[in-house]
Amino acid sequence: MWSFHKWFERHSLILLIGILVVVSIGGLVQITPLFFIESTIERVEGVRPYTPLELAGRQIYIREGCYTCHSQMIRPLRDEVERYGHYSLAAESMYDHPFQWGSKRTGPDLARVGGRYSDEWHRAHLEDPRSMVPGSIMPPYRFLARAELDVSRMQDHLRVNRMLRVPYTDVQQANAVIDARAQAEPNGDAAYDFEQRYPGAVVRDFDGDPSRVTEMDALIAYLQMLGAGVDFSTYQAEAPENQR
Ligand code: HEC
Repeated sequence: MWSFHKWFERHSLILLIGILVVVSIGGLVQITPLFFIESTIERVEGVRPYTPLELAGRQIYIREGCYTCHSQMIRPLRDEVERYGHYSLAAESMYDHPFQWGSKRTGPDLARVGGRYSDEWHRAHLEDPRSMVPGSIMPPYRFLARAELDVSRMQDHLRVNRMLRVPYTDVQQANAVIDARAQAEPNGDAAYDFEQRYPGAVVRDFDGDPSRVTEMDALIAYLQMLGAGVDFSTYQAEAPENQR
């Protein structure tokens, strides 16, 4: 055994490889179980998968690069909690693929922007940020209100999310295209069925133009649900032993 040791000490490369092997075993033992243990992410009431319209809005958020200026993660630091609200819970990003935590705050954090402003405020702000916040350096996104929302690939979108373990049902997947439009058409025929399929989601004409479902509808639907699911007046972090 001791001669074996000499072999390691005399060849720095072999020693290096030996160190890497030992350290990775330690890492694997610690990290791998976290991917498989169900209780890694505490289940929290009020967190639900995105509706098709919100999912489409999220795609627009990513496409337009909103994440380059906005984070979506409130850290448990006093100044952040006082400004933005309760710090973000892991469960609140559990259906995000990929998550939108972001790494830069040119603008404010958006993790809890849902419900803070009216739909009209968002529309006016996205069309011309300076009309609502003088001196804002956020770029205008006027075209979103003119662009018809493309829902043709909504079913695939839900299917991929299911592969990533977002619990959409067969019925939700089959009706994804109808549901994406239904959420923005409160007077439409499909609104009732949509509400049955997505309890807790709101049906509203988000962009103020009832004749069409636009990218603006989708983006505002997404913004309005950000961080609004969990009721923090009753929320209590679970103790580890009674998880789930
Ligand atoms: C160049 C950086 C930049 C980009 C890109 C950007 N924003 Fe902003 N955003 C800001 C700044 C700065 C503010 C603060 C001033 C204001 O309210 O306009 C802001 C404010 C906001 C607010 C109000 C937040 C609050 O709590 O008051 C929302 C909502 C918002 N942005 C959404 C978006 C969305 C959606 C996109 C993508 C379509 C986007 N932003 C892209 C810089 C940006």
